[in-house]
Amino acid sequence: MQPIQLAIVVGSVRAGRIGPTVAAWVRSVAAERATIEVVDVDLAEFELPGNLVPNDDTERFTAMIGTCDAFVFVTPEYNHGIPGSLKTALDTVKYEWRAKPVGFVSYGGLGGGIRATEQLRQITAELHMVSVRDAVSVHRVRKRFDDEGGIDDPAAVDALGRLLDQVEWWAGAVAGARERIDYPG
Ligand SMILES: Cc1cc2nc3c(=O)[nH]c(=O)nc-3n(C[C@H](O)[C@H](O)[C@H](O)COP(=O)(O)O)c2cc1C
Repeated sequence: MQPIQLAIVVGSVRAGRIGPTVAAWVRSVAAERATIEVVDVDLAEFELPGNLVPNDDTERFTAMIGTCDAFVFVTPEYNHGIPGSLKTALDTVKYEWRAKPVGFVSYGGLGGGIRATEQLRQITAELHMVSVRDAVSVHRVRKRFDDEGGIDDPAAVDALGRLLDQVEWWAGAVAGARERIDYPG
């Protein structure tokens, strides 16, 4: 079987963000699996317009999402919600998200970004995505990573393993289904 194309999406674009550190950890774990090929998607590398008038980056971003079989969204929590950059990215693409699995890795202060994850469950359901049950929440994120990008959070490590198992399972299941019949959405 071909490895799945798993996009790891960095949801924050803020100056001084920690998102790439969290995403690099997710990447290192996912890349250990021969069944996964990681596609790095950093929203800071796209100028996606908030008014949703398409531009060249809209096309580039949509095409990239279209090549992916599954997603992990790495998201901070800003004021109990997801960052605007991630919402704009989700609103920018329509068909290319559909009938594909997604897992959530959130991070933040004491709450670990769990409210951002719950928002993403609502939004991705509307986009016809399949969100997996297990999620990662990294609490007090600024204290969790060492200088080499290693994480001091065994619960997060366990949760990421389960998340990836479930995303892979769904990616295999829906890929077969998509080959047999068009998704009815
Ligand atoms: C505008 C703003 C709002 C925030 N709101 C929350 C929040 O509601 N809950 C939380 O746990 N952390 C909150 N934080 C702390 C962030 O989780 C923390 O700064 C994290 O590093 C942000 O991710 P980033 O560095 O990748 O942008 C907030 C940070 C910012 C900048």
